[in-house]
Amino acid sequence: MNSPSARRAMIAGTGSALPARCVTNAELAKTVDTSDEWIVERTGIRARYIAGEGETTATLAADAARAALEASGMVAGDVDLIIVATATPDQTFPASATKVQAMLGIPDCVAFDVQAVCSGFLYAMSVADSMIRAGSARTALVIGAETFSRILDWEDRTTCVLFGDGAGAIVLTAGDSEESATPSGILAVKLHADGRHNQLLYVDGGPSTTQTVGKLRMKGQDVFRHAVTNLAAVLREVTETAGIAMDAIDWVVPHQANRRILDATARKLGLSPDRIVVTVDRHANTSAASVPLAFDAAVRDGRITRGDLVVFEAMGGGFTWGAAVARY
Ligand code: UT7
Repeated sequence: MNSPSARRAMIAGTGSALPARCVTNAELAKTVDTSDEWIVERTGIRARYIAGEGETTATLAADAARAALEASGMVAGDVDLIIVATATPDQTFPASATKVQAMLGIPDCVAFDVQAVCSGFLYAMSVADSMIRAGSARTALVIGAETFSRILDWEDRTTCVLFGDGAGAIVLTAGDSEESATPSGILAVKLHADGRHNQLLYVDGGPSTTQTVGKLRMKGQDVFRHAVTNLAAVLREVTETAGIAMDAIDWVVPHQANRRILDATARKLGLSPDRIVVTVDRHANTSAASVPLAFDAAVRDGRITRGDLVVFEAMGGGFTWGAAVARY
């Protein structure tokens, strides 16, 4: 139970960043044996952004972080915690979070990466929320940033058409939310992992095995089935934990992997499609960046407004999956 004046992690601002180059399905079909029709029908994806020279996970993360700080009215010096969720860091080490810290000019703070692939942003948000509640951080930059284009096998049409690059960020800051009917900030988070499914979605390389970076491999249909089941279950679980009825949710901000997964999950829960934020058509699957990218898009275009009850959810390699409820 929360104390009457509980410390919570409030969402002070959001930001995002995309590479300069947008690649449409038609453009992709010039070099990959695919078609705009197949990609749109099976996934809902129409375009994705692909990082060019000089654009990396850390540079995109830093740009998203700057935008989130500006939106929150805070400055880099206020930040005492940076967590970057990524499966495509600039280097094996140091953590991309420390690169972001240097780019923002913050001389001292806590900075580390979290790796839970597409669920990474939910995992990072949960860690930051826990540290803020515990009093070990006051203002956190939570960033999801990826350059999946650099681990794709561009000869494998079953995977390379699905992913894109980008970054999204939020600023979380400690606030005292009076116990009331409408408390603000992060209200509940639920995380899961099941490592028995490592071989359904993975990268076939790594420093300790092949000493190579490796390429993404996926058994798409198996992932699809697990995604709908797990996401519907964790959405129920997190809303129950927060004591919120499904029909009280204003917006669902889901991981953007496939339009059909979003529709099937919404159908399973009886959620109106009007309440689901969809950006998979223009961003494709940006792994850990997809939830904060979609969130920032919906905040900036005025769909999500202050006081809205928002549910975030994601599922990815491992498998890992999770959901969070927040009042924005
Ligand atoms: O972020 C982590 C979570 N990831 C996901 O959630 C991904 C989940 N999975 C999916 O989104 C879908 O399973 C896919 C989009 C990956 C695939 O859709 P599908 O409806 O399951 O297609 P499929 O794998 O059954 O393939 C159907 C056909 C096959 O041809 P045959 O065997 O029927 O002749 C494929 O070879 O489509 C073919 N195909 C393609 N055709 C044109 C596969 N990829 C392509 C392509 N263009 N890019």
